[in-house]
Amino acid sequence: MTVESAMPEYSPGLAGVPAGRSKISYVDGQAGALEYRGIHIAELAVHSTFMETSFLLLFDRLPTPDEVSRFSNDIILHRRIKYKITDLIKCLPEQGHPMDALQAAVAALGMFYPAREVLDPEVQYWSIVRLIAKVPTIVAAYYRLRRGDEQIQPRDDLDHASNFLYMLTEQVPDPLIAKVLDTCLILHAEHTMNASTFSGMVTASTLADPYTVVASAIGALKGPLHGGATQETVEMLEEIGSVEHVRPYINQRLAAKQKLMGFGHRVYKVKDPRAIILQKLTQQLFAHYGRSLLYNVAEEVEHVGEELLASKGIHANVEFYSGVLYKTLGLDEDFFTCIFAMARVSGWLAHWLEQIKDNKLFRPDQIYEGQHGRVYVPIHRRLGGL
Ligand SMILES: CC(C)(COP(=O)(O)OP(=O)(O)OC[C@H]1O[C@@H](n2cnc3c(N)ncnc32)[C@H](O)[C@@H]1OP(=O)(O)O)[C@@H](O)C(=O)NCCC(=O)NCCS
Repeated sequence: MTVESAMPEYSPGLAGVPAGRSKISYVDGQAGALEYRGIHIAELAVHSTFMETSFLLLFDRLPTPDEVSRFSNDIILHRRIKYKITDLIKCLPEQGHPMDALQAAVAALGMFYPAREVLDPEVQYWSIVRLIAKVPTIVAAYYRLRRGDEQIQPRDDLDHASNFLYMLTEQVPDPLIAKVLDTCLILHAEHTMNASTFSGMVTASTLADPYTVVASAIGALKGPLHGGATQETVEMLEEIGSVEHVRPYINQRLAAKQKLMGFGHRVYKVKDPRAIILQKLTQQLFAHYGRSLLYNVAEEVEHVGEELLASKGIHANVEFYSGVLYKTLGLDEDFFTCIFAMARVSGWLAHWLEQIKDNKLFRPDQIYEGQHGRVYVPIHRRLGGL
């Protein structure tokens, strides 16, 4: 028997290969269902808050009123970032990607708050609090500083979403807008074994500190096949520009073997349940602020996309309407993925806790396809270039 035939069958992208056991979230890709700790996402989106949902994900139960208020207060009290982190952000190029700024600042946080004792419950709790609290402050600081504006300090009397919007604009947002953003954070908080979570878990399995774990996950989230798709979706919709251009654009794009951004999912073979909720939220905003052209284009893209791709199980995913929604809120496109990260930090940390509780270092195998026994040729005898 060869070594290769003794191995389990190789699955590119590890598609369908379980990489862990988890009690955090569950996806049924055929039924279009997503649950956090057994509770359907649609219920959480209507009744919960991002703070409560984060508690649920992290500690496996809905908190009592006292517990959620203590957790929220601890987070509120840790929102400020050290001036050295602000200085670090000031030194980053204005034209850089905000996800890179976030990754650098989160990695730097780990130098200010050493958390090597990862199994210590106190270290775990305060690292969780600091990360959930400070990620929005870092994002808002880069948003302001790269425009040459002053950083705005967080306000302790505002909830998580309102405070984030306040740190961007120095205005307390309309409660409807804050509620919509909070719901977006709930929808993006967790999603089973996706690329960024896996990346964080691989880092967690080395017993690295939680700041390093989250920094790894942020790096994976940035890519256009994952969280970066929100920005790319809106750029695609803007490139299309009008409802009449949708069909020829999609035909051309698919003929060139290019993917439709915001469509398709490794697990969902029906419309992503989060996209359904996000679409409704976007419509709620329009009822108050007027419908946008971009939304009209998006609806037509979904219509034509469904017609052409539904037979392959390809439908709108969570990124499709989130970009349109963030654009309606007036946010810069390259910040969309940072909002995803602000939400997913809770899911990443829930997986961090789960991973280190029963840890085994990730060290998968590979199928070697290179040569063996090649002769080393001294450099002076290598003629003819490469
Ligand atoms: C998310 C994604 C990477 C998952 O795909 P996957 O399970 O790895 O599947 P593949 O990329 O191998 O695609 C399988 C087939 O579906 C097609 N497909 C997948 N997504 C597509 C899309 N968005 N538009 C057009 N065709 C798509 C592929 O071209 C391929 O077709 P083929 O079998 O004829 O070659 C993929 O759907 C994608 O790239 N989507 C666009 C980016 C995006 O929105 N990402 C956010 C995900 S939440």
